[in-house]
Amino acid sequence: MARKTLRVSKIKEGTVIDHVTSGYALDVLKILGIAGRWDGVVTIAMNVPSQKLGRKDIVKVEGRELSAEEVNKIALIAPSATINIIRGYKVVNKQRVQIPAVIKGTIKCANPACISNSNEPVQPTFYVKCREPLILECHYCGRLMEKSDVLEQFLAKASSA
Ligand SMILES: Nc1ncnc2c1ncn2[C@@H]1O[C@H](COP(=O)(O)OP(=O)(O)OP(=O)(O)O)[C@@H](O)[C@H]1O
Ligand SMILES: [Mg+2]
Ligand SMILES: [Zn+2]
Repeated sequence: MARKTLRVSKIKEGTVIDHVTSGYALDVLKILGIAGRWDGVVTIAMNVPSQKLGRKDIVKVEGRELSAEEVNKIALIAPSATINIIRGYKVVNKQRVQIPAVIKGTIKCANPACISNSNEPVQPTFYVKCREPLILECHYCGRLMEKSDVLEQFLAKASSA
């Protein structure tokens, strides 16, 4: 009899990023900087049926835990994601990502003339107008940014790093 689910080997230590907005698994990998060579097992599932989301992506990375900065970035592109820390094959910690009301530092303003892009000592600051779909407003110039703008920055950074 055919099995209903595909069997994939479990990871011993690492991170499972579950409930990723479908279509964004590869962007999550790029944010983590492991689009290319990586020693550990990486498992990606795309468009998996989900009770909560209808469809979701999942990213599993062996031998890796995420920094706060990485979690903040993932939140912006996959606001329903859960970060599960795996140790000894078990989930030992589960954290839902969060988008704060104000974002400082993680993103640059898309307006080249914005004071936050000058040599003035001001930290880029955005107000979260909407979480899904993502809309951010620059505190300094009022420029609105959406998920595609944010993603473009993350990917440009990942490939130049
Ligand atoms: N050792 C492991 N290796 C690979 N994936 C794992 C491992 N342990 C758990 N997972 C995966 O991590 C995710 C969270 O596991 P958990 O057992 O908490 O599932 P769950 O009860 O469905 O969680 P949730 O309520 O967040 O949907 C699932 O996608 C599960 O398949
Ligand atoms: Mg589940
Ligand atoms: Zn601005």
